[in-house]
Amino acid sequence: MADDVHDTPIDPTATKNLGDQGLRFTLLKSSDETFEPWLQAMGRGFHGPVTDAEHISTRAEGFAHRRISGLYDDTLADAKSPVATASAWIADLTIPGGHTIPSWAISTITVAPTHRRRGIARNLMESELRTATALGVPVAILTASEATIYERFGFAPAAMRADWTIDTTRATWAGPIPDGKVQLVTTEQGRDEGGHDILKRALPQTPGQMYFEGHLWNRLFGLPGRGNPKEMRVVRYDDADGVQQGLAVYRVEDPGNHQPAIAHVEYLTTATDDAYAALWRYLLEIDLVGTVKAELRSVDEPVRWQISDARAASEDQVGDHLWLRVLDVKTTLEARHYNAPGTFVLELDDPLGFAAGCWLLSIDDSGTGVVRKLDDSEGFGSNHHLAMNVRDLGSIYLGATSISTMVKAGRIAQKTMGAAVAADAAFRSTTTPWLSTWF
Ligand SMILES: CC(C)(COP(=O)(O)OP(=O)(O)OC[C@H]1O[C@@H](n2cnc3c(N)ncnc32)[C@H](O)[C@@H]1OP(=O)(O)O)[C@@H](O)C(=O)NCCC(=O)NCCS
Repeated sequence: MADDVHDTPIDPTATKNLGDQGLRFTLLKSSDETFEPWLQAMGRGFHGPVTDAEHISTRAEGFAHRRISGLYDDTLADAKSPVATASAWIADLTIPGGHTIPSWAISTITVAPTHRRRGIARNLMESELRTATALGVPVAILTASEATIYERFGFAPAAMRADWTIDTTRATWAGPIPDGKVQLVTTEQGRDEGGHDILKRALPQTPGQMYFEGHLWNRLFGLPGRGNPKEMRVVRYDDADGVQQGLAVYRVEDPGNHQPAIAHVEYLTTATDDAYAALWRYLLEIDLVGTVKAELRSVDEPVRWQISDARAASEDQVGDHLWLRVLDVKTTLEARHYNAPGTFVLELDDPLGFAAGCWLLSIDDSGTGVVRKLDDSEGFGSNHHLAMNVRDLGSIYLGATSISTMVKAGRIAQKTMGAAVAADAAFRSTTTPWLSTWF
């Protein structure tokens, strides 16, 4: 599969459409000479700084597994720099039931300001979706710079995020106090000596988490040119048997004037409830700190219930984070576990065609679903019947959003009485979906 990601030919439809505008659409690899100008153009697309020459090789390693595409205007003075960039790779996505599904993780979509709004991003996105389908990847995922761009391509928010602020002058610890050991370790120890194994055990516990390593892992500890590694502190929890079970990366900001400091939790991953409690307790009890801020966390953090004063904790920036697009309805729906039996007709509208049609989802008592596409001639019988755009299937798939709410919002049509309540019972997730990284 890894070879296929690089070797599958570039999408001919997008190549033709963009070629008609005089633009050259091509694949490249991070080991190619063309990678550096590609990387700089991508950074420019997000208004980032130029990447220093000494960091290019690290970034190239981080992109080695990605299928990278660039769009070139060979008439420009700086023709080596692409006018548009995209990259994608296959990443395991956790879905309800502790299972994972391969997903096409789309990233680094940029179009130069000189070439905007002439259909380039549309061609890039549609080519990514067709490539994923050609590779047999059933869903596509992304994190979005703006919430207004991706619904038109069949994506919708599938896991939400929140930024947490906790006033530690008010919040005394009221949660469990586990037996294991909390210890400060160096950033290198946290990054390279077992920390990633904790992550590997943690990610499959929460729907919406995407497996990551390499650049996306290393940057949490402050990569060169990204955050300041000198400011990062790493604290680890080992259980009573000495097994590493949790890791927090944080930095402390001193506002000056003898004001209490702010601890910023850059990342927190825990494989057990004990590790979660022990590390949050540590973070909330750091001397000289009056506020703990943790961005990009779950909207349903247990820490809310582990402090003496619930009003000491607040959630800001609650909103979309993981966006999901179903491409292969049968594979996607059969992969997850359901919480209640039932038989549903899901009538899907998909302007891009990938998922359109009527699909019969039959869930047995064990929570296993079997899916069949209905022929036009087949009736729907007495089954629960819901009609929706494919993007709304993305929203309900991991259980982040109640189907009844989507019916109230007019996004999903309930064609038979009781269908939404029955579907809510089946699609609900016992763990609130959450994605802990940008990509
Ligand atoms: C967002 C971006 C990629 C769009 O590129 P583009 O080539 O101008 O987009 P297109 O011309 O292909 O537009 C495709 C559709 O998206 C819409 N669209 C494009 N950018 C949009 C935006 N920022 N907000 C809302 N809609 C947008 C267009 O109106 C068009 O709609 P339609 O096809 O339904 O009529 C580009 O503006 C960009 O590089 N922005 C900065 C980097 C960024 O935010 N990238 C996204 C990373 S998640």
